[in-house]
Amino acid sequence: MSNTHNLFAACSTVNECLKLRDELNNSGEIAEIKKQLATATSEEKKLFGKKMNELQQEIRKVCDEQIQRIQQEQEKDNFLPYDPTFSSSNYKKVQQGNLHPITQITKELVSIFSDFGFDVADGPLVENQWFNFTALNTPDYHPARQMQDTFFLKNVDENGEKLVMRTQTSGVQIRYGSTHKPPFRIICPGTVYRNEDMDATHDINFHQMEGLVVDKNISLAHLATLLEQVFTKLYKTAITVRMRPSYFPFVNPGVEVDISNPFQHDASSKLYGQEWIEVLGAGLVHPTVITNMGLDPNEWQGLAFGFGIDRMVQLKFKISGITQFYNGHLEFLQGGE
Ligand code: FA5
Repeated sequence: MSNTHNLFAACSTVNECLKLRDELNNSGEIAEIKKQLATATSEEKKLFGKKMNELQQEIRKVCDEQIQRIQQEQEKDNFLPYDPTFSSSNYKKVQQGNLHPITQITKELVSIFSDFGFDVADGPLVENQWFNFTALNTPDYHPARQMQDTFFLKNVDENGEKLVMRTQTSGVQIRYGSTHKPPFRIICPGTVYRNEDMDATHDINFHQMEGLVVDKNISLAHLATLLEQVFTKLYKTAITVRMRPSYFPFVNPGVEVDISNPFQHDASSKLYGQEWIEVLGAGLVHPTVITNMGLDPNEWQGLAFGFGIDRMVQLKFKISGITQFYNGHLEFLQGGE
């Protein structure tokens, strides 16, 4: 049987071992015994049977040993060999992901505003016209509705009015104001949608951050001071704000807010040399809107503002085109353009 050992030693897979075992169980001495069993006496059958069992057990034993050897070799191959000279630099470094630039700045803004006592509020992306427009002092005949080219859905609300993809985060003002007792301060970061021609600063889906403060004796001075401090923290350089009269139906007075350009002296910036940058719309909450929150405008006043987060991120990271945010290119997400 020493030949059996040699035969199995030549097998390199489990299947080869099993095949050889079957062959050996049907050849040589065993095949001879099987032939003789047909004509053997019962006394001889006992002897032949015993001999055949011994031979088969020996084959099985050698076969099992070889299978075990093969499996141990395979397991060894699955482990990296312990080699003290092997350094971690031999491995390809695992690339760690990072947050999308819009998420990074949104988180930073949320953190800055929370230092000023602001809570984060949220609202639905599919909105009804009451919250998106009407309650914000923009009834359907109002020309200001045309300023926000709206995606309408086929679905309607309980009044039969078509639902819309929200065009602004301002709807959260009414949702929050009608369910919370003032005084309060909230921001609402979120995605909004407008059917616009796309260019370097316009996309059809983008992000806004709404701010709303409802309290007593609120004035534009509060707004200016708050925004100066927020943008100074965000851009890590002293920022001043400038207000120009503007029109939004849900505020009175309404203003367009510019900030002093943090890149005015940065020759690598597209904004080099420019003194002011327009960043947001704002104002004191219109009494009609305060009323639509279920509050008395003689008792409560508010300030509100809303800006585009995407453009803030473009400014901060000097990103030339807004559509880069959604192209999914790894190079861009890793910090290049
Ligand atoms: C509004 O949407 C008002 N809801 C803002 C507001 C809130 C005013 C509270 C008063 C009180 P406006 O349409 O200007 O305003 O948009 C606000 C900001 O969103 C813009 O300053 C701009 O930064 C950004 N934005 C507007 N359209 C686009 C677009 N297509 N792509 C990217 N950003 C945009």
